Amino acid sequence: MNSILFEQASIKNIRLKNRFVRSATMEGMATSDGLPTGALKDLYCMLADGGVGFIITSGAIIEPYKHFPENFSTALAIDENDKIEAWQGLIDAVHERGTKIAMQLTYLGRQDIPEWRGSTPIAPSAVPIQNTGVTPREMTVQDIKDIVEKFAHACRRVKEAGFDAVQLHGAHGNLINNFMSPFTNIRTDDYGGNTENRARFVAEIVDRTRELTGPDFPLMIKMNFNDFIDGGLDVDEAVKIAEIIAQAGIDCIEVSGGTLSESKDHIAVKGITKKEQEAYFRTYAKALKENVSIPVILVGGHRTPDVMAKVLEDGAADFISMSRPLIREPGLIKRWKNGKLEKAKCISCNQCFENWIFRPLRCYVEEPLKERHN
Ligand SMILES: Cc1cc2nc3c(=O)[nH]c(=O)nc-3n(C[C@H](O)[C@H](O)[C@H](O)COP(=O)(O)O)c2cc1C
Ligand code: SF4
Repeated sequence: MNSILFEQASIKNIRLKNRFVRSATMEGMATSDGLPTGALKDLYCMLADGGVGFIITSGAIIEPYKHFPENFSTALAIDENDKIEAWQGLIDAVHERGTKIAMQLTYLGRQDIPEWRGSTPIAPSAVPIQNTGVTPREMTVQDIKDIVEKFAHACRRVKEAGFDAVQLHGAHGNLINNFMSPFTNIRTDDYGGNTENRARFVAEIVDRTRELTGPDFPLMIKMNFNDFIDGGLDVDEAVKIAEIIAQAGIDCIEVSGGTLSESKDHIAVKGITKKEQEAYFRTYAKALKENVSIPVILVGGHRTPDVMAKVLEDGAADFISMSRPLIREPGLIKRWKNGKLEKAKCISCNQCFENWIFRPLRCYVEEPLKERHN
C-alpha cells in the first residue's frame, strides 16, 4: 500500500518507520512485582512483527500498591531502580523488528482503589466519585512535590531501561488529568484556579524530568481534550494547557478524552460501524495542531485506512494510534501494507475493556491471543 500512513516521521530524535502507534493498553501480563513476563514479550513481538511503528506500553505504576489482589491482572511497575534491568530483553526484541517502544506512566489519583493502596486515594481536591462513594484526600503541597519527584525518577528509569521515549498518562481521570480539570481541581493555591495553575503540576513534572533525563529524551503525554463531565475540561482549555506544557518541554501529545469514573464510554466508544463514527476525537486534534508545533497522535475509533490517511492529509494529526483493533488483529498493519485494505475486524463490543482489570488482555470475539501465537 502506497500511502502517507506508511511514510516515516519523527518524534524528537526518534525516527518511526510509519505512522501507526499502538496506544497504551492494559495487558495484565506482568509478574506480581510489575515486571514484564514472557507473554508480554510475545505480545509486543507480535505487534512489531505485525508492522506497528511505535508501541506504547500499558500504564506502569510509579508507587507500589500495598494490597494488590492476587486474582487481578497486575499492572506494570517502574517504582524502583531494581526494575530497570528486567526490560532489556523485551526492548531488544522490539528493536530487532524495527519498531520503537515507549513506556506509559500512570498514577490513578482520585479514581484509585483504597483497598489496593492501603489508604485513601489522593487528588488535587476532595471531589467524591458518586458511583463508588469514594472521596479522595486533598493533596498537601508536600504530597504534590513527592509525586512530582516520583514521576521524574520513574521517567529516568524508563530512559535507563532503554525505552525510546516515555509517555505521561494525563487522560481518563488519572491524577495528571485531575489537576488539569476544573471539575476535579477546585484548589485555591498555586495549583488550582486559573488554567496556568492547573497546568503547574505537569509542568513541574516536565521540569524535574528534564533535570534527570537531559534535554534529548522524548517526553510525551496522553491528554483529555474533553472530560465529558459538566464543568470538566473542554477542548478550548485543553488546547491552552497543551500550549503551556509544550512550552515547558513536552515533545508529543496524544489526543484522547473521557473519564473512567464518570464518562468511561467516551474513552473507547462502542459500536463503531460507520466511517462517520471513526476518528471520534479528530476535531480536537485539529484544534491542537493549529496551536502547537510538536507532533500530535490521535487515538479513538480508527478502523478504515482511507479515513486515517485523510486525518493525516488534512493536517489533523501526525500519527494514528489504536488499541482495540490491534487486540483483535496484532498483524493489522502488515495486512494493510500488503494491500488487504478491508477495515479493522474489531467490532467495538468492548468486552476487552470491561474485563481488563480481571484477566490478561484478549479479544473476546477472536480466539485468545496466546493460542493464536502458538
Ligand atoms: C483493554 C483496554 C485497556 C486500556 N488500557 C489503557 C491504558 O493502560 N492506558 C491508556 O492510556 N489507555 C488505555 N486504554 C484506552 C486506549 O488506549 C484507547 O485510548 C481507547 O481504547 C480508544 O482507542 P481504540 O478505538 O483504538 O480502542 C485501554 C483500552 C482498552 C480497550
Ligand atoms: S473484544 Fe475484540 S472485537 Fe470486542 S472491542 Fe475488544 S478487540 Fe474489539
